[in-house]
Amino acid sequence: MDRIPDPAVVVLGGRVAWTGRRSLLPPEWVGARTVDGRGCWATPGFVDPHTHLLFGGDRSGEFNRRLHGATYAEIAAEGGGILETVRATRTASVADLASAGEARLAELHLRGVVHVEAKTGYGLDLESESRLLEAYAFLRRAGWSLDVTLLPGHEVAPEFAGDAEANARAIAEDWLPELVRRHPGVAAFCDVFVEKGVFSVDQGRRIFQSGQALGLAPRVHADELGWTGGAELAAELGAASADHLMFCSEAGIASMAAAGVTPVLLPGTTLFLGMRDWAPARRMIEAGCAVALASDFNPGSCPCLDPLLVLRLGCLQLRMTFEEAFTAMTLHPARSLRRRDLGHLHPGARAAILLWDLADPLELVYWLGADFRPEFPLAEEP
Ligand code: NIG
Ligand code: FE
Repeated sequence: MDRIPDPAVVVLGGRVAWTGRRSLLPPEWVGARTVDGRGCWATPGFVDPHTHLLFGGDRSGEFNRRLHGATYAEIAAEGGGILETVRATRTASVADLASAGEARLAELHLRGVVHVEAKTGYGLDLESESRLLEAYAFLRRAGWSLDVTLLPGHEVAPEFAGDAEANARAIAEDWLPELVRRHPGVAAFCDVFVEKGVFSVDQGRRIFQSGQALGLAPRVHADELGWTGGAELAAELGAASADHLMFCSEAGIASMAAAGVTPVLLPGTTLFLGMRDWAPARRMIEAGCAVALASDFNPGSCPCLDPLLVLRLGCLQLRMTFEEAFTAMTLHPARSLRRRDLGHLHPGARAAILLWDLADPLELVYWLGADFRPEFPLAEEP
């Protein structure tokens, strides 16, 4: 993370054309129209590389049960948890899903998030997953900067209860090809919840390989509630990311580093589930991984749209330095989404610039709980 004293950023046609010390500004730009940053810090906008943005209903009832002692796994085993949200999502209209999505994206944007990865996964059947893609396509047409990930393997669907194998086959052989055929160009990635009691590494591999044949790069829900070998699978497949990783093994870390897989860590989820198993961010960084942070925004394990909470937990619980955590909210998530024009302010970057009225950006973490909002000097539309 470079800090440039008394800087200037040249923007041309929505892109950064030059960044550096104002005293070195090339003469051709000297007469350009200027926007005064008034001594604020200019940073790239945040990129959130893991959200479950669209769903119906909420799970505040379940949350209260957890406060009274029930566990996330117990609630899921009784048919609550993800499946409760699936029921609410299946009965919501595309218009309702899209308008809830728009409100959530607006919340994120206010707090400086300029690009979001968003998953399906609360439909769990062909028609409902298709409706989620329709809502995402609508949000993109409305101008939101989104990457969409297909996640029909988010949980074993109620229609396949007790038969994950048949569900995995339906996803790999029928649903993914049909969803891509119906909604060309909407999804760029594919995800599977590889976890004990959900989909196995073998089932995950077959779903991901089907996705890869359709041009969808893998992002893996890996080693979230226990070790399953999800990180190793991500490395084997050359995945764009492996996400969660609270129970990632040393071999998994080494294989992600060697394969260039971006670990995406979601400390808000560890917090909200009341777990103490923080993902081993330091060991990943020491192994050479380009660690990213994300919100995991979803109604069950992290109903939180606050990027500053994620940044703060990155520093305070994952023990990242401020520079590591800030890079994990900008450059590294953009890398995991294969976007070279986000997460930095070098030439070629999208001019999604934030201004922070602070003496130092470190204060974003230091003033714990403060609800800092950035300004958008170029009033870039979302
Ligand atoms: O990332 N791991 C699976 N999916 C979500 C939880 C979804 C839910 O509880 O609704 C997660 O933690
Ligand atoms: Fe998730």
